Amino acid sequence: GIDISSLRSQTGYITLDYGFKNTGSTQSAVTFLDGEKGILKHRGYSIEELCEKSSFLEVANLLIYGNLPSKSTLNNFTSNIAGYQLVHENYRKILDGYPSSTHPMGVLSALATTLNAFHPEALDPHRPNELVDVSIQKLLGKIPTFTAWAYTHAKGIAYNYPKTGLGYVENFLHMMFSTRLKEYEIDPIVVRALEKLLILHADHEQNCSASTVRIVGSSHASIYASVAAGINALWGPLHGGANQGVIQMLDNILADGGDVEKYINKAKDKDDPFRLMGFGHRVYKNFDPRAKIIKKDADAVLAKLGVSDPTLDIAKRLEETALQDPYFVERKLFPNVDFYSGIILKAIGIPTLMFPVMFAIGRLPGWIAQWKEMRENKEPIGRPRQIYTGEVERSYVPVEMR
Ligand code: ACO
Repeated sequence: GIDISSLRSQTGYITLDYGFKNTGSTQSAVTFLDGEKGILKHRGYSIEELCEKSSFLEVANLLIYGNLPSKSTLNNFTSNIAGYQLVHENYRKILDGYPSSTHPMGVLSALATTLNAFHPEALDPHRPNELVDVSIQKLLGKIPTFTAWAYTHAKGIAYNYPKTGLGYVENFLHMMFSTRLKEYEIDPIVVRALEKLLILHADHEQNCSASTVRIVGSSHASIYASVAAGINALWGPLHGGANQGVIQMLDNILADGGDVEKYINKAKDKDDPFRLMGFGHRVYKNFDPRAKIIKKDADAVLAKLGVSDPTLDIAKRLEETALQDPYFVERKLFPNVDFYSGIILKAIGIPTLMFPVMFAIGRLPGWIAQWKEMRENKEPIGRPRQIYTGEVERSYVPVEMR
């Protein structure tokens, strides 16, 4: 019922594209994605090769600076970040002020914003690149510490400090799981699986949170404020919550007697809104290259840890049954990365509420790379248009006469 010709005279021509499904917001040289062919590349390197040969911080450096770093550049980058893992003691007081039930994504975004208070130099949009690099390293250093502290705070146990000599992922596991009574035993299979999981989440071009980081940064808000906005965008269940949804679905199937076939049939029934969480993907229409890589690690982690968890048994049975079912085969509905990441995180002992936070640690290099590219391109402030559909002219009625 909209009179298009009258709108045209008010606004000129405007492209209406809800969700920006077919609108390019920028030109980017960071990540290449071909959903039909199942290709994901960062700066020209395939995700398969990066997962096999690189560390997470090496991929972070590649995403942010555009080339694979030399050995000395990578060593400096890694050791600076290790130094920045220590956080100001006052963060403990801030954390202590939150109820232990606070959602860890809320804690993470609040502490990312708080970085502006402790490092206000980041507020200067014209500061030189060397100082921007310091902010980048501080973010990469401190976000895992904030994450682990959000977890230990929620559990009511003591905060662990980063330990010298441990790698990035090892230190994170130590800060999460060591207690006064028992040092966390670091297993190389778990470390490698988590490292790969972080690499697999490191960037995914102009998704909701990356676009948020770019648009907030385009107003010259600081990198910390922009990343905090990205964390908030990722918080939504439609973006960062899919792997949490997988475990919730598996738990529901278990609570309902563990009848996997019943739920497969529900998913196939077009009158039933139920869908198998962790199956199918909006962009990857043949297979999810990230899922292919991480599936092997999910199997290795389960075998190594010898985890006996009925929820994870349901996952195995669901995967096997669906992959043989013509409905899923014909529609090319394969498990996506969230299916296996949920399984790995649960096996490692990370609670479901923390899953989106793990995603945030992984996505951090992508947000930073997108923010930096936006800044270097000198992109104008993001300011979408609209098509106004409200009242055009109304006479004001005084309050006593309404
Ligand atoms: N279970 C059952 N049937 C499914 C599923 C599923 N998980 N996913 C798709 N289908 C069916 C559809 O009903 C449709 O069937 P039809 O051709 O008979 O009508 C066909 O497969 C094609 O699916 P679409 O809905 O067109 O695919 P779309 O691209 O719109 O949806 C999506 C992709 C949203 C990911 C979907 O597969 C889904 O809901 N999956 C489960 C939720 C999930 O895992 N989301 C996380 C994705 S990863 C991420 O976003 C980070």
